[in-house]
Amino acid sequence: MKKARIAVLVSGGGTNLQALIDAQKNGVLRSGEIVLVISNNAIAYALTRAREAGIEALTITKKDCGGQEAFEDAMLEALKARSIDLIVLAGFMSILSPRFVSHYVRRIINVHPSLIPSFCGKGFYGLKVHEAALAYGVKVTGATVHYVNEIPDGGRILLQKAVPVLPGDTPAALQKRVMERAEWIILPEAAELVSSKIIKEKEYRQ
Ligand code: GAR
Repeated sequence: MKKARIAVLVSGGGTNLQALIDAQKNGVLRSGEIVLVISNNAIAYALTRAREAGIEALTITKKDCGGQEAFEDAMLEALKARSIDLIVLAGFMSILSPRFVSHYVRRIINVHPSLIPSFCGKGFYGLKVHEAALAYGVKVTGATVHYVNEIPDGGRILLQKAVPVLPGDTPAALQKRVMERAEWIILPEAAELVSSKIIKEKEYRQ
């Protein structure tokens, strides 16, 4: 069976990338294959995870490219050269411009560590999301996987999973629980969902 060609965009530790790699091994992700990892941070541990799994890994930074437009052009070139069908943002800490997104409509998904529409949009990323959830005092949080459009964290929701906030939680403890109980589960599931959709659309067109 033909598989959707997936690129994963990362910036840091890459535990969500690892969940995708593991899902590929255990068959949760079977309609798509990760063929490329792009990091916008040269020292991201995610790059090591990719290489250890035998996946091509590139570093493309805004600084090296000299600005957002050139940075996105360099990524588009790499993605098009490898005929990427689906882009998965897995801890990618840079907001993509409407121009970039227009090249991959309904072909980019993102994992966000809250139940959107809470604690999302510009400025809400990584630990900041959990700090905000604790400061507000919510008793339930979670993770969301959504399509990426021109509005930060504003695209249609694919999957969500709730996680309890516990007394005495620190942002780091809450982040760990949200990753383990939600992100690492729903991101591979959503990648499979969209990959199988892409494959079906391609078969229909032939
Ligand atoms: C994850 O919690 C992810 O949801 C979040 O950053 C972390 C990256 O961890 N992403 C965002 O906040 C994007 N707005 P990872 O590198 O170990 O996957």
